[in-house]
Amino acid sequence: MTKTPGSPDIRSILGRVTVFGATPPAFDPGTAPADPLELFAEWLADAVDAGVADPNAMTLSTVDADGSPDARVLILRDATPEGWSFGTSSSSPKGQQLAARGAAALTFYWPARGRQVRVRGRVVKGSAEENAESFLSRGTGGRAESFLGRQSDVIDDPDEPRRALDEVRQRIEEDPDLVSPTWTIYRVVPETIEFWQASRDRSHLRLRYRAAGDAIVVHAFHTERLWP
Ligand SMILES: Cc1cc2nc3c(=O)[nH]c(=O)nc-3n(C[C@H](O)[C@H](O)[C@H](O)COP(=O)(O)O)c2cc1C
Repeated sequence: MTKTPGSPDIRSILGRVTVFGATPPAFDPGTAPADPLELFAEWLADAVDAGVADPNAMTLSTVDADGSPDARVLILRDATPEGWSFGTSSSSPKGQQLAARGAAALTFYWPARGRQVRVRGRVVKGSAEENAESFLSRGTGGRAESFLGRQSDVIDDPDEPRRALDEVRQRIEEDPDLVSPTWTIYRVVPETIEFWQASRDRSHLRLRYRAAGDAIVVHAFHTERLWP
């Protein structure tokens, strides 16, 4: 297809990109641990040690009430047998999407290691106590921002966010126990977790763990190899 005159030439920029430039680390799916959390811990620690930028950042994919997909980057708070957790406002678009469809996917990509991890499952909310504890553990700035509960609203007056933040900051300083009614810990309870390892010869390695049964807390997984 030819380039429209005046529009940026994205293809020529893409042509300068090296795919999987770094030498990928060794990975033998045959000796992978039975527990996917153990393998995730290994890969995450490896990414941290290798200096991968923002190794705790992941794409959260959701679906809205009409079935349209949406995705954005979030920070992973923790991963335990109870699920993979993140914190956000229940009144945000993603919060509303999760209320409409309680399922989500998480995607990590650690470029310097040629590794991707994908998690799919249903989503459960933290208890009121857990949400409050998490909210109060945040810095004043983060607390003020999430207390506003305006995430992704359109700004009509450019001065309003600063004013609203200053006001809420003051309220928080006056009452340090103030808790946002919308700050929520969400947990993805994995049905599948897939580990993907790039290979120089393009025979990329893929190992998927599938939850055995549909327990609230998943303790056992089957593994299966996937075509690259
Ligand atoms: C590296 C990075 C980390 C982020 N972490 C969070 C987070 O932990 N929680 C959050 O609500 N938004 C986080 N965001 C902002 C989200 O990507 C998004 O813009 C925001 O949550 C609004 O999403 P929504 O309109 O789909 O609800 C982060 C963005 C980046 C780039």
